[in-house]
Amino acid sequence: MASTLCTYLKTSVMKKQVMAVTGLLLCGFLVTHLIGNCLLYVGSDAFNAYAHALTSNKLIYVAEAILASIFLSHIGLAIRLTVENKKARPVGYYMSQMTGNGATFASRTMPYTGLMILIFLVLHLFNFKFGPVYMTTLDGVEVRDIYKTVVEYFQSPLNVLWYIVAMIALGIHLSHGFWSAFQSLGFSHPKYNCTLKLTSKLFAVVIAAGYIALPIYCYLMGGK
Ligand code: HEM
Repeated sequence: MASTLCTYLKTSVMKKQVMAVTGLLLCGFLVTHLIGNCLLYVGSDAFNAYAHALTSNKLIYVAEAILASIFLSHIGLAIRLTVENKKARPVGYYMSQMTGNGATFASRTMPYTGLMILIFLVLHLFNFKFGPVYMTTLDGVEVRDIYKTVVEYFQSPLNVLWYIVAMIALGIHLSHGFWSAFQSLGFSHPKYNCTLKLTSKLFAVVIAAGYIALPIYCYLMGGK
């Protein structure tokens, strides 16, 4: 039993399935993070109150550890599958989905858009989470003015441009990844494939456009 599980865990099919599940969980994170960030449109108090509620909750450490594990598993497996398949045969199970018949620009560039998202994420955490700390008062409670950190960052047109480029890469990655995740989990049927591909593209556009609108808004409004 244990050895069967061990063998299964080593197969590329299993790795693809774990990648699919972690990828879909990350899609869920992207949706909730975008909804939370939309409080930037409401104003500084709403955004700071939301960020404070999140960061002051003790469970945040558990949530962050889970999120980090999901990100690391997804990235680690993507690297392993790409390397293994390139070594084993020119067109393996994983690579055939990306480069075989029906390959698209999005499927062929998955490793590159993925790498770009990783670079984006490291810089993003550095600039915001571990970025400049300002303080403000909300109902008599001293909280971090993360709104000021974000808006200040987006006063630079170069930073806005970088976010637009990175979010386009994210959109391209999602447009293939979302659909591919369902394929890997066995949700594949000629009757539904077209709808699934369309849903994937729609999801990618909504997420990318949603994240692109925020820096542009911050830049144009200057935090007012
Ligand atoms: C305009 C776009 C975005 C804005 C304005 C934004 C804003 C923020 C802010 C303010 C924080 C720090 C929260 C805090 O420590 O209080 C944060 C954290 C984070 N962001 Fe973003 N974000 C954006 C896009 C993204 C994207 C596209 C991703 C993923 C690819 C992402 C992933 C994360 C992660 C993983 C954290 C750390 C969460 C934690 O430690 O709890 N963000 N973001």
